[in-house]
Amino acid sequence: MRANEERAVVARGITKTFGSGESPVQALRGIDLEIGAGSITAVMGPSGSGKSTLLQVVAGLDAPTTGQVWLAGQEITGMRDEQLTLLRRERLGFVFQAFNLLPSLSAEENIRLPFLLAGGRPGADDELWIAAVISRLGLNDRLTHRPHQLSGGQQQRVAIARALATRPAVIFADEPSGALDSASGDEVLGLLRSASTEYGQTVVLITHDSRAASIADRVIRMSDGLIVDDFPGGTAEQIGERMLGVTE
Ligand SMILES: Nc1ncnc2c1ncn2[C@@H]1O[C@H](COP(=O)(O)OP(=O)(O)OP(=O)(O)O)[C@@H](O)[C@H]1O
Ligand SMILES: [Mg+2]
Repeated sequence: MRANEERAVVARGITKTFGSGESPVQALRGIDLEIGAGSITAVMGPSGSGKSTLLQVVAGLDAPTTGQVWLAGQEITGMRDEQLTLLRRERLGFVFQAFNLLPSLSAEENIRLPFLLAGGRPGADDELWIAAVISRLGLNDRLTHRPHQLSGGQQQRVAIARALATRPAVIFADEPSGALDSASGDEVLGLLRSASTEYGQTVVLITHDSRAASIADRVIRMSDGLIVDDFPGGTAEQIGERMLGVTE
């Protein structure tokens, strides 16, 4: 990374141990990471290698056992809860496997919730972006439905639309296209790519899929709680081959 490039995420000496006593699990064993603003980083690696744990820690959703994390220049380790909640609400977007949609709100109300929480109203530019997101995710005819009236894939697309709606500075996505059919999955990936190139948003994307990782500017591979490879991405084929070529 160039010295003058803004860093959206900085992590230093991160370890995370779950449990104690006889069988603690060392999910992260010493991670140093810097992520440039406006870039897309794909995090890959086998099941149990620590990808979701790393995302939770760098997104301020879980505290590391040791080490420090900075988000958009602010150190979040040791930050007070209220301050961290505010930072999350204003600067971060999350797409996780558990959708966390509010059951009593319609799809559209769920998508607009971040604006409500922030106490603001979408401006004209926001409305254009929201309309584009809704349309590209194929949700136009589902806006009045409640979450329980939607399929799993539709619920996931609503959650993705919500995460993108406010154009947060950093988007953390854990397998965002995993449960979707390939056309919807491609739209999600296209939207993440637009978020980065058109709006300068930073995206950190966990994926098992080399095709999904091919939208990234950088690919990080994890194994057993450590970063074992870090390269500038490429086509799905190149990424797939490189993954196979690295010994664990
Ligand atoms: N809350 C927890 N309590 C105890 N152990 C945990 C907890 N969360 C994760 N782990 C353990 O930490 C390790 C890393 O888990 P993590 O969820 O980060 O893996 P992952 O790379 O995201 O895997 P997957 O691809 O299957 O989602 C695993 O051994 C897991 O069992
Ligand atoms: Mg995971």
